This record gives sequence, structure tokens and C-alpha cells, in this order.
Amino acid sequence: MASRATAHRDNATQVPHPAELVSQEPYFRGRHGAAYLGDSLTLLRSLPADRLNLVVTSPPYALHFKKEYGNKEKKEYIDWFLPFAREIFRTLRDDGSFVLNIGGSYNQGTPTRSVYHFKLLIALVEEIGFHLAQECFWYNPAKMPMPAEWVTVRRIRIRDSVEYVWWLSKTPWPKASNLAVLKEYSEDMIRGNRNGVRGTVRPSGHVIRSSFDKLSPGGSIPSNVTEGELTNWPESMLKMGNNAANDVYTKLCKDQGIKIHPARFPAALPRFFVKLLTDEHDLVLDPFAGSNTTGAVAEGLRRRWIAVEAVEEYLKASTFRFEDRRRTHSAHQEGLFD
Ligand SMILES: C[S@@+](CC[C@H](N)C(=O)[O-])C[C@H]1O[C@@H](n2cnc3c(N)ncnc32)[C@H](O)[C@@H]1O
Repeated sequence: MASRATAHRDNATQVPHPAELVSQEPYFRGRHGAAYLGDSLTLLRSLPADRLNLVVTSPPYALHFKKEYGNKEKKEYIDWFLPFAREIFRTLRDDGSFVLNIGGSYNQGTPTRSVYHFKLLIALVEEIGFHLAQECFWYNPAKMPMPAEWVTVRRIRIRDSVEYVWWLSKTPWPKASNLAVLKEYSEDMIRGNRNGVRGTVRPSGHVIRSSFDKLSPGGSIPSNVTEGELTNWPESMLKMGNNAANDVYTKLCKDQGIKIHPARFPAALPRFFVKLLTDEHDLVLDPFAGSNTTGAVAEGLRRRWIAVEAVEEYLKASTFRFEDRRRTHSAHQEGLFD
């Protein structure tokens, strides 16, 4: 599977393939990006400054119930994470963004929540220099009702259905366009447009002008709550019908008896931010790539990408995400694998 980082340019645009930026051999290459096996801190340190348009990632959280790939303790989490954050800041362009998906966690032995992810956010802003462009949320109604002791046994806590997504930026003015992620108008909006909206003042004090009654072309502006397909629960993923990349990945993992990554995020999550924050041929990095959901999304959206994962089994299975393209085009034509 390993291949050489030979010079390769996208013929259409003459932008360098991301493998040209990295001295390490890629584990595999896609047409627009490359995946690396190893420690992302080492790889980040080898990258030139001011190159990345977007880093979108989900690192191991400081979980009470550890995943098999290992999770840091809450008390050491910030010290562990900040060296990565420092390199991400250095390698981002001035108009670049860092989108960090991080889950909350309970304190050990009590039905109280840790604030480690809020402390991390503060450290990212106050120690590293990031700006908080917007705090976003991933709504995942199928998260397990955990910890069972508090939620399903003693019944003193409710189900947790969101994860935090901190959208950080290197300067206050990251490149972004919500026009790239417009949603379909709701029935209510279409009805309001058809029937007209009377000018009024809402109890909140907001003035609604009758000129509001024209829908702008394209769609409605999405909120900061992203709804995505499920992770952590393969049976439900199948029931819910996942996106194409995930379908192929899950099916091929099962067919070949390879363990499905235990903590994937839905492709909808990186897709939303890649579209919001980058243009075609921009460079996207996921330093905690897991099953390389980010790389597969970037590949499909013609963004250049670099993915780094420490566990070979995960990276190997992540090549399945590129299988559908491999089947529909020959590897030669598509240039998916060298
Ligand atoms: C929460 S998972 C990411 C899952 C991914 N978003 C997906 O959709 O498959 C975090 C991953 O980070 C990897 N990891 C942890 N430390 C790392 C490091 N220093 N360098 C590279 N990968 C690392 C773990 O092996 C794990 O697969």
C-alpha cells in the first residue's frame, strides 16, 4: 500500500499535490491528497508555515470510558493538546480555520460534568492566539444514554445528544461563505414568502419589515447546529442510511472482517465545514484522521488534503472510503492509488 511521494500536479490547476509538502512517505495517496501513518505532531512540525486553509478534526477526547486507541486523562489533556494546537496555528494561513470536534465528559464517580473542553477552548484562545469564530454543535440523537449509572439506572441525568464543535480562526477574518452551505427553505418560509409578511415589532424588540418577505435565491442560512449521521453505533448507522462514503467503508470492513473505527464522525460534519470554509483546491488537514472521513470528503469536493493517523489498522481500512471511486474509474484514470 505504501507509495512514493513522487511529484504529481493536478493537471487542471497546476497546484502541487499535498504529498509534495511532506517529506515522509504517504501510506496511500488520493488524487487530491495523501494519508500518512504516524504521529501527527511530528508531521505537523515538518510542514512549512502558512499553508493550510482548514484543519478539521476530532482528537481522542478525555473520556471516562476509554476507547481502544487510548484517551488522555482530563487533567493532562490541555498539556497534551497544546503542542498540536501550536503547530496548527503556525501552519494555517492567516485566513484559515481550525474546526475542533470535541465531546463532553462526566467526572469520575459523580453525576457532574467535566469542564475540560471549555478549559481547552480558553487555552486555545488565550495561550495559542486563536479567535473563536463561532461555537457550533453536532446534534447526534443516537448517542448512547451514558453513563448508565446516572441516566438509565438511577435516572438522575438526561441523555446527552450534542458534541461541541469549536470553529477557531487564526485571525478575526477567516475565509467563509454561508452561501456555500445554504439549506432548502422550510415550508413556513415558502408560505411566508407566498402570503407576504406584515411589518411588525417582535416582543424581543426585533423589527420585522415587510420587505423581509422576499426569499433570496439559493436557500436558507443554516444554524450552528449540524445534524449528522451516527457514529459509535454501526447497527443504527445502517438503519439510518449513511452517506455513500460511509456505506462503502462499513460494508467493506464487514466483508473483510476488519474492525470498524469506533469513533468516526459523520461525513456531514467535515463536509459542512469544508464547504463553508474552503474553495476547490484549498488544503485541508486532519491530524487525527481515524477512518479518514475528512480525506474522503475533501477528495469528493476536490479540496487537497493531508490525513495523519497513528494506528495502521484504521488507516488501512480507510482506503475503503476511496473504493467506490476505484470501482467506477480505473485506478489509472482516477489516480487514486499509485
Ligand atoms: C476520535 S478518532 C478520529 C475519528 C475520525 N474523525 C473518523 O471519522 O474516523 C481519533 C483518532 O486519533 C488517532 N490519534 C491519536 N493520537 C494521534 C497522533 N498523535 N497522531 C495521529 N493520530 C493520532 C487515534 O488513533 C484515533 O483513531
